Amino acid sequence: MRVWNKTLVMPSTESVATSVDKTFSEHARGMGGYPCSGYGSAAEFFATYFDASERLQSYDAFLTAHLPREARTLSIASGRCANEMRLVSRGYCIVCSDLEPVCPGPTRALFPDYAFMKWDAMADPIPVDRFDAAICLSFVYLLSPDALDAFMERVRAVLAPGGLFILDAAGSPDHLVANVLHDVVLPLDARLSCALFNLWARARGRERRVVRRKHHGYRYADTEFIAAARRHGLVLEAISHMDFENEWMRMIAYRRVLLRVPFVRAAMRRVGRRIPYVRMFAFRCKE
Ligand SMILES: C[S@@+](CC[C@H](N)C(=O)[O-])C[C@H]1O[C@@H](n2cnc3c(N)ncnc32)[C@H](O)[C@@H]1O
Repeated sequence: MRVWNKTLVMPSTESVATSVDKTFSEHARGMGGYPCSGYGSAAEFFATYFDASERLQSYDAFLTAHLPREARTLSIASGRCANEMRLVSRGYCIVCSDLEPVCPGPTRALFPDYAFMKWDAMADPIPVDRFDAAICLSFVYLLSPDALDAFMERVRAVLAPGGLFILDAAGSPDHLVANVLHDVVLPLDARLSCALFNLWARARGRERRVVRRKHHGYRYADTEFIAAARRHGLVLEAISHMDFENEWMRMIAYRRVLLRVPFVRAAMRRVGRRIPYVRMFAFRCKE
C-alpha cells in the first residue's frame, strides 16, 4: 500500500482540504461539482458523462461481461450513476447508493427505473434484504488498510451466499512506475507549470497560483485487494486491467506538449500497461 498524495496547482485565494475527502460536498468538489446539466435526453446524458470517458467505458466492458442481467445488484458509492444507468437502460436491476443522491430528479426523469438508497457504506446498518451482487467503482482509494478490511466484511454481509462482488481498484497500483510518477514526476510537473503560469500572470497583472499537496487516498497492489477480500470469504474469479493513459494525463506537460509529439501516445500507452488506472476484480462470496 502506498499513500496517494496529489499535487494541485490552484489560485492562491482558494483553499482545499489537505486530508482525504470525507463529506459529500468534498467528494462532489473532487468530481467537478456534480452539475445537473446534460440531462436533456438519455443520449445527451451518456454523451456528456459516459462516451468520452475511457474509465467508465472500461468499467462497462467488465460489468457487461461478468454481471448477470437478472442479479439484484447494489452499487456502492455510485456518484452520478452513469455506468449504472447505462446498465439499467439495458434491463439490469441496480439499486444505487451513496452518501447523497446526485441530480436525483433529472436522473429519474430520464430513467424511470432509477432506484437510490442513501447509504454510508462504512457506517450505516447492513440492508436487511441481501443482494445477488454488489459493484463498487472508484471508491476504495479512500480507504486505509483497516478501513479496506472493514469494507470487505461489510460487502460480504450485504451479499447473499454465492453472491458476486465487482470491484474497481480506483487508481493505479502500488508499483515502481506509478510511485515515481506520483511522488516525483507529478510534483515537479506541477511546480514547473505553476512557475511558468506565474511569470505569465505577473506580466498581465493576473492572480498568482500556488502548489498545494493533498492526501487523496491510498494505492494498493492487486495482491492486497485479493488478500483483503479472501479474509472475508470473497474469492477471486476474474481480473482485468484497462485504461492505460489516464495516469499520464495527470501530467500538464503530457497534455500540453508531449501528446503533440508523434508516436509518444502509443509509447506511453504501452508503458502505461504497468500502471492501469482501471483494475477490475470479480469476487465470489463462498458462504
Ligand atoms: C470518486 S466518486 C466515484 C463515483 C462513481 N462511482 C464513479 O465511478 O464515477 C466517489 C464517491 O464515493 C462516495 N462516498 C464517499 N464515501 C462514501 C461512503 N462512506 N459511503 C458511500 N459513498 C461514499 C462519494 O460521495 C462519491 O460520490
